[in-house]
Amino acid sequence: MPMAPTTEIRRLTAPEIAARKGGEPIVALTSYHAHTARIVDGHVDFILVGDSLGNVMHGFDTTLPVTLDMMILQGNAVMRGSRRSLVVVDMPFGSYEESPQAAFRSVARVIKETGCGAIKLEGGVRMAETIRFLVERGVPVMAHIGLTPQSVNAMGGFKVQGKDPSSAEAVQRDAEAVAAAGAFAVVVEGVVEPLARAVTAAIPIPTIGIGASPACDGQILVLEDMLGLSPRVPKFVKRYGALGAMIEEAVEAYASEVRSRTFPAAEHTYKQKA
Ligand code: KIV
Repeated sequence: MPMAPTTEIRRLTAPEIAARKGGEPIVALTSYHAHTARIVDGHVDFILVGDSLGNVMHGFDTTLPVTLDMMILQGNAVMRGSRRSLVVVDMPFGSYEESPQAAFRSVARVIKETGCGAIKLEGGVRMAETIRFLVERGVPVMAHIGLTPQSVNAMGGFKVQGKDPSSAEAVQRDAEAVAAAGAFAVVVEGVVEPLARAVTAAIPIPTIGIGASPACDGQILVLEDMLGLSPRVPKFVKRYGALGAMIEEAVEAYASEVRSRTFPAAEHTYKQKA
């Protein structure tokens, strides 16, 4: 029997993530590059190619300027860098809201051109018809409710949701609508703990929290935030590293050695044959 190649790709699937409801916590991080995808791949269940790349990679204040082409380019990079995590690509603002048909056309491009295993879109009740349309056509959809950054202008800022009963009821209705429409999981962002707990108990699909307490079925963070690379982070982020400071220290040492002509040294220099 021929040996299986050691580079074999066996990724987690959307149904496998859905089956983790109420079980071992689901671990997720964002990644936009092949090299970070390679590093996180062995430790997470899914990698989100988030439209937060607009903030993190491009320095935009919001995710609104992000385009489908940007998502496809970085989605491809993450697919090349990973081999076992489910890769979920975010649908950017303007690529899916118009109609279920328009959403399908954008989603089909993302899936054909990246090979990702699922897509994510923002919105609850208002996107339920589109989620159902996509799911019926074979697309695994991760929903995103609560604080939805693409609606920043309508929300009047990046505001924690569910603080008052009417906002909490709206988020609860959103959760029930996306689950009933066939989403395999839902990101719950920026909501108060009792609401995250109630939503997680009420729906049969995994909730993936970000700023939504430990009550969810899983957690996701933006990689650069938890690594200490982002200049400002929200309260819910724990910094597991201080990469910004480490990079600055390394760059400072390099600049100083170039200026003092101590780099490149003999070991970094090509010699001619004697
Ligand atoms: O774009 C993103 O990174 C996201 C996460 C914050 C969930 O949607």
